[in-house]
Amino acid sequence: MGFQKNFLWGGAIAANQAEGAYDEDGKGLSISDVLSVGKGRFDNIKLEIDESKYYPSHEAIDFYHTYKEDLKELSDLGMKCFRTSIAWSRIFPNGDENEPNEKGLEFYDNLFDEMIKYGMEPVVTISHFETPLGLIKNYGGWKNRKLIDFYENYCNAIFKRYKNKVKYWMTFNEINHAHTLPLIAAAIEIKEDDTKLQDIYQASHNMLVASAKAVIKGHKINKNFKIGCMLSLSPIYPASCKPEDVFESYQLRRRSLFYSDIHMLGEYPAYFERIISENHLNIHMEYGDKEILKKGVCDYVGFSYYRSSLHEVGMKILGNTGGILGKKNPYLKETKWGWPIDSLGLRYVCNELYDRYHKPLFIVENGLGASDEIETDGKIYDYERMEYLKKHVEMVKEAIKDGCEIMGYTWWGPIDIVSAGTGEMKKRYGFVYVDKNNDGSGTLKRMRKCSYDYYKQIISTNGEDLEIKERVEKYEK
Ligand code: BG6
Repeated sequence: MGFQKNFLWGGAIAANQAEGAYDEDGKGLSISDVLSVGKGRFDNIKLEIDESKYYPSHEAIDFYHTYKEDLKELSDLGMKCFRTSIAWSRIFPNGDENEPNEKGLEFYDNLFDEMIKYGMEPVVTISHFETPLGLIKNYGGWKNRKLIDFYENYCNAIFKRYKNKVKYWMTFNEINHAHTLPLIAAAIEIKEDDTKLQDIYQASHNMLVASAKAVIKGHKINKNFKIGCMLSLSPIYPASCKPEDVFESYQLRRRSLFYSDIHMLGEYPAYFERIISENHLNIHMEYGDKEILKKGVCDYVGFSYYRSSLHEVGMKILGNTGGILGKKNPYLKETKWGWPIDSLGLRYVCNELYDRYHKPLFIVENGLGASDEIETDGKIYDYERMEYLKKHVEMVKEAIKDGCEIMGYTWWGPIDIVSAGTGEMKKRYGFVYVDKNNDGSGTLKRMRKCSYDYYKQIISTNGEDLEIKERVEKYEK
């Protein structure tokens, strides 16, 4: 048993990390447009532009102007689909307008036409870390229920406009990051500790209702739409067999699966009552919400997978585990950015999700962030990336043999883009290199890396030939 004939091999990016043109053709500012570069990019954010700072999303890789050439280059890989997001603030600059911005709509019309021209199915994330800034400044972000209406209006506009061009949608990118990256994932500023959980769960409820409404509306507009959820689902392994390590890891895992449970099963999990009472939460839910959640279950589970992490009881929880990356796993190698490389973890997650929901899975992000160097012969021998890709595709194949229904696999950042976590350009994921540096300098020139031909080989053989043929000694050690 191998990859199904119509398996969606592809690549994924997000508007704010690629397009640039941050104020062109009527676009308003989004939350990403006020995030600078560096590890502390989410700390002490002023919700406005400071002229003395550098903001990577403002130009990014200039995809807004180069998408034709870039899509042509990526289509030569044989990709069957291309995932990107629509920048909400191109369509509704402040988020709360009644009428959409025609120029913004036109841009995505052209973009989708170009994908279709090359035989790439558009896969669209409706909101990917780019909520219009106006919705945060004037309404407080997703903790305000009014955002459900604004999001509904936005979905209505794009569903109607692209109903004959786009079939695959996802409602919110990595919605479970409401806990770990609340500013970009849920558009909320977390300032005081005592209201933190209240705000996160209130925002989450509003987003989940908005997602369910989008699913219901989308299916009305085109019954063939496939509308998925999208979560960041790196597994969390207990650091030991100590029952406390195991149980706390399980609780942390549930904090993420809480979202897919509601998206896919249409109801709150039983343990949520305890979270409410122990934390004295008062989540405002309206009459009818329950029914909406039940009716608006998603068609598939979209998720990102980069790494696994290790958790020990009592660690300060910053990310989805203790610390940001968890405890060091002695069995795994790490990337330069400290992300453990664990291909088996991908098979684990596929099985975990398929056992739980019995619904198709779509691996919409997987990739290796590395600082590629151009060698003296002018080439980029990104052997590490090829190895990562090989091992992970092997595990997707194993998961299919395990019985998991997997719709597709989209490599994160098939062309180098801005990193969401740090704003760096140096953290590269692409098969295509973009000449740009962390400080914004560079010619923006594109060039293929060695991994380019390797992914092409994988796609052209529908995942059958995974052998890395071109090996470079230097990288083999
Ligand atoms: C996911 C996001 O969290 O991981 C992407 O959906 C992001 O937007 C990707 O780029 C990789 O993370 P980073 O920080 O290396 O860009």
